[in-house]
Amino acid sequence: MQFSLNGRNIAAEPGETVLSVARKNGVFIPTLCHHDAVSPSGACRLCVVQVSSGERSRIVSSCLYAPSENDRVETDTERVRKVRRMVLELLLARCPTVELIRDLARAYGIQRSRFTDGAGPSEERCVLCGLCVRVCDEVVGRHAISHAKRGIQRKITTAFDTQADECIGCGACVRICPTGALHYEDLPEQKQPERVMVELHTRVPLVRCSDCGRAFASPALFEHVSKSVNVPPTTLAACPACRSKSFAATAAQNPPSAPAFARAHARTYQSQLLASINEESS
Ligand code: SF4
Ligand code: SF4
Ligand code: FES
Repeated sequence: MQFSLNGRNIAAEPGETVLSVARKNGVFIPTLCHHDAVSPSGACRLCVVQVSSGERSRIVSSCLYAPSENDRVETDTERVRKVRRMVLELLLARCPTVELIRDLARAYGIQRSRFTDGAGPSEERCVLCGLCVRVCDEVVGRHAISHAKRGIQRKITTAFDTQADECIGCGACVRICPTGALHYEDLPEQKQPERVMVELHTRVPLVRCSDCGRAFASPALFEHVSKSVNVPPTTLAACPACRSKSFAATAAQNPPSAPAFARAHARTYQSQLLASINEESS
């Protein structure tokens, strides 16, 4: 399937979005709510492009729109820039201190938003992109958080703003958040070490690494990873750093054959996939 992207004839797979094709072909389109690990949602409208077919042209979200044969897609027309400026002004009014939003706004010539309410700078950091909710639902499979309320009170939270027992403290939501609106704090010195998901009203107990003693992950995360990659939870009892050391030491003593090494590495990689996101807390 062929379409025109900024005047160049480009091939696309059926169903492939404009954003995906643009990225493959080195064409920059700004995004906020898009991440390859989760399904697109069209929440931010920053990725808009102009699509013309015949005499008609319209503005669409490039992260959702799959072009049709002979569409003419433009990624940086004045009409596109006007929509992006409006989106950024609204985001800047909501989150004036978020560096990413300020940088994007500056790139589109916006120094301050017309929509500020005069009540002084807001400390709000959440742009409601929904990436955290989607990663928790689609990748981690825990459904611990969601959007709540409407209008300017809309926010990301747990059910009834209380402890989410579904949360395993994996930190995927924190890592995917583009604006730093979510964070966690580990309390490793407590008798029972805990991870506090600060904005999510949730505390998750942590266990200590069987080798170095560092509190690094929750039992629920072990169980989750163990089921996902089909390894016994005991295999995960050491933290990622200690597991890597022990793997390297074993490999040095008994160099595995190439296929065995590939299999072992794949297993290690998979089992570390979720657990390794706790490494930052070390
Ligand atoms: S830390 Fe909790 S809320 Fe965040 S992705 Fe993991 S399970 Fe979901
Ligand atoms: S907390 Fe972060 S990831 Fe979640 S909706 Fe807000 S800005 Fe997006
Ligand atoms: S990146 Fe497409 S709507 Fe947000």
